[in-house]
Amino acid sequence: MKIPLARPYITKSIYQEIRKLIQTGFLTEGNYTKKFERLIEEYTGCKDCVAFTSATTALEAVIKSLNLKKNDEIIAPNFSYPATISPAILYNHKVKLIDVNKYDYNLCFDELSKNISTKTKVVIPVSVFGNSLNYAKLLKLKKKYGFVIIEDAAASLGTTYKKKKIGSIADYTIFSFHPRKSITTGEGGIVASNNTKKIEWLRMFKNFGLKKEGKSIFKISGTNLKMSNINALFGINQIKIFDKILKKKHNIVQNYINELSKHENIQIQEVTKNSKHSYQTFCITLNKRDKAIKYLRSKGIEAQIGYYALNQHNAFKKNKNVKVCGNLNNSIFLAQHTLALPLYYQMTSNEQSYVLEILNKFLSLKKNEKK
Ligand SMILES: Cc1ncc(COP(=O)(O)O)c(C=O)c1O
Repeated sequence: MKIPLARPYITKSIYQEIRKLIQTGFLTEGNYTKKFERLIEEYTGCKDCVAFTSATTALEAVIKSLNLKKNDEIIAPNFSYPATISPAILYNHKVKLIDVNKYDYNLCFDELSKNISTKTKVVIPVSVFGNSLNYAKLLKLKKKYGFVIIEDAAASLGTTYKKKKIGSIADYTIFSFHPRKSITTGEGGIVASNNTKKIEWLRMFKNFGLKKEGKSIFKISGTNLKMSNINALFGINQIKIFDKILKKKHNIVQNYINELSKHENIQIQEVTKNSKHSYQTFCITLNKRDKAIKYLRSKGIEAQIGYYALNQHNAFKKNKNVKVCGNLNNSIFLAQHTLALPLYYQMTSNEQSYVLEILNKFLSLKKNEKK
């Protein structure tokens, strides 16, 4: 049996929809992009949002829009995908990397408080794999120190905190639509915010700096980071059935939890209090993680590591603008021990039973057999 880690769920109506789009001849950014933006706005409850070519370019544009000064600092968690901090690094900003919690994988607020200074202007917390941030704590710190929150919610469309959807709580929330995410546009990202003025600026920036006020005026110096109608069409197709996708994924996750919580040597990612995880990824920690991945893959199951400890990678290790705060032990532990298991809407109970059977087999191997 061959089991992928993730698989997009796109309904068959896409074939007709694509034909219709091709007939219009309008393949660049257009009405479909606008419609997708409105649907995400409705879904998340934010005031406005703007689509980009990816979450990474969306993050880049938001950072650019903040006009940070030379000595301003950005704080970000050390356990993530490099894209959380690479836009800041590209613009030569100073980034402080802090540790995360060992069980929910999200940014540690004690570490945040310890490392905040008057120079801290931005915090980029990551809601890891769809697990909500603890906003009660984060907003308290924001009130005290006044930083801007750009939530890297690349994996978190559909996550709720105190029954409120992610997208309308942070100053800026960035979603990704890469094919491993719960809905995909091939490549794509969105910035959601209640700051409509800033969204207007971002809309100009990603479209060559163009403002259409009757005639075309290039108001700011911009670039081209537009999401095409083609990409947006895929997003529209899936956002309409997203709640159905989420429900099915939750059922699959519940089966994983029921089975895997019996193993005392496995830890399942803890869900933040008062929130609902959107499970872009179902992740556990276990010993001999790399051997587990090799074993699962040898049986046709695509398992994957969780995230990286960013401080261990040359791009950041050797960069004078990156400051490592504290020992970062939890992020280093998680980078070595997290295992993402297959999870997708179409997953059958047979497929899931097979994953569990093979994982159980691996766990029951004697130490010297785990090669
Ligand atoms: C936490 C996080 N941030 C950002 C990104 C980048 O997203 P994109 O591929 O849409 O640029 C990813 C991609 O997986 C991610 O996991």
